Amino acid sequence: MKHSFDEEYDRRGTNSVKWEFAQEGEDLLNVEFTDRFFGPNRALPMWVADMDFRCPEPVVEALIARAEHGIYGYSAPTDDLLHSVVNWMERRHGWDIDSEWICITPGVVPALNMLVRTFTTQGNKVLVQPPVYYPFYGAVENNSSQLIFNPLILENGVYRMDLEDLESKCRDAEVVMAILCSPHNPVGRVWSRDELVKFGEICIENNVLVVTDEIHGDLIYHDQEFTPFAKISDTFAQNSIVCTAPSKTFNLAGLHTSSIIIPNPDLRNRFEATLQSNGLFGINAFGAVALQAAYDHEEEWLEEVLQYVEGNFEYLKAYVAENIPQIEVIQPEGTYLVWLDCRKLQLERKELKRLIFEQAKVYLDDGFIFGPEGEGFERINIACPRKVLEEALDRIRQAISRLPESN
Ligand SMILES: Cc1ncc(COP(=O)(O)O)c(C=O)c1O
Repeated sequence: MKHSFDEEYDRRGTNSVKWEFAQEGEDLLNVEFTDRFFGPNRALPMWVADMDFRCPEPVVEALIARAEHGIYGYSAPTDDLLHSVVNWMERRHGWDIDSEWICITPGVVPALNMLVRTFTTQGNKVLVQPPVYYPFYGAVENNSSQLIFNPLILENGVYRMDLEDLESKCRDAEVVMAILCSPHNPVGRVWSRDELVKFGEICIENNVLVVTDEIHGDLIYHDQEFTPFAKISDTFAQNSIVCTAPSKTFNLAGLHTSSIIIPNPDLRNRFEATLQSNGLFGINAFGAVALQAAYDHEEEWLEEVLQYVEGNFEYLKAYVAENIPQIEVIQPEGTYLVWLDCRKLQLERKELKRLIFEQAKVYLDDGFIFGPEGEGFERINIACPRKVLEEALDRIRQAISRLPESN
């Protein structure tokens, strides 16, 4: 590999959510350090979906060059920038889009909130597929709509959609929008074309607008194929809104620059009116520079990151199978997040949290935050140097071996 992802960086002091914050009542910061970054008392932060890898060096250089200019006035999306997005979608996913379809927002989550506000009215329902990225819930509830659930089915270690349930839920005339997580966070599924076709047809038949969150769409394992939902057909494109960004792909989340791709002009006009009414225009000056530098030149870096992450996953899978048989690993097909089924430990929510955080001193995302279907699961972020993953798994193994039942 041309790039190395083994180096450990100290992210403390950079205002990193992953490294410097914790959920209420958990003290990620006030633990003593005994050696450089990862003393035995230090909780290893393996939650929040960003990577502990430096982004591609040419992106850093482009940002430094921009910073050196010293004037950071308003910026707007240029034709060149929009073409970077168009070219990326074409090169990476064979999806031919028009630059006019792109609306730039300061993130996918803000966009999801505004999309719910734009396309639903009070009393309407928005369908989601739990266990799922929990800000979907907030996006619906914050905006006076109701959630309706179409839980995924876990069968023999593999998640699939419950299409029968989807169809029956979509028949309710109040269900006007479905938020699809594709690839799915946290379960790691890369939906097949066939699954997406079935999902889309049910939504179209029942006048349900599909908002598809494809922020993880570039992070696909080598033996999998990602299908952009709106690429399936023009009918699908006209009934969908695609949320994407270089933020997960190139580790740029803090630069808050996303592309919301809306092929249908009527839907796009309505969303643009919402952006206006929120006073949102232009683009983050640094986000623009990073997006272009990354999309235009850094596909090779991405391939190497994916190779490294897959290597991390293979390590995790083998280690857990051999040393922590109480945990079942759900095989991801994409993303750098891995969903761990810890239900065999038979621990209550608080006990599992205590085990992972207090005893193992590893900070993961508790499964229940993704919905009740996530109870007894944990989500681990494996976009970190291999050594850190090894340390985290070893700590979890040791903590589990100290459980009374295991002795
Ligand atoms: C499915 C999904 N959507 C959106 C986001 C966050 O998007 P943004 O940072 O652009 O708001 C994440 C981050 O973890 C995610 O996993």
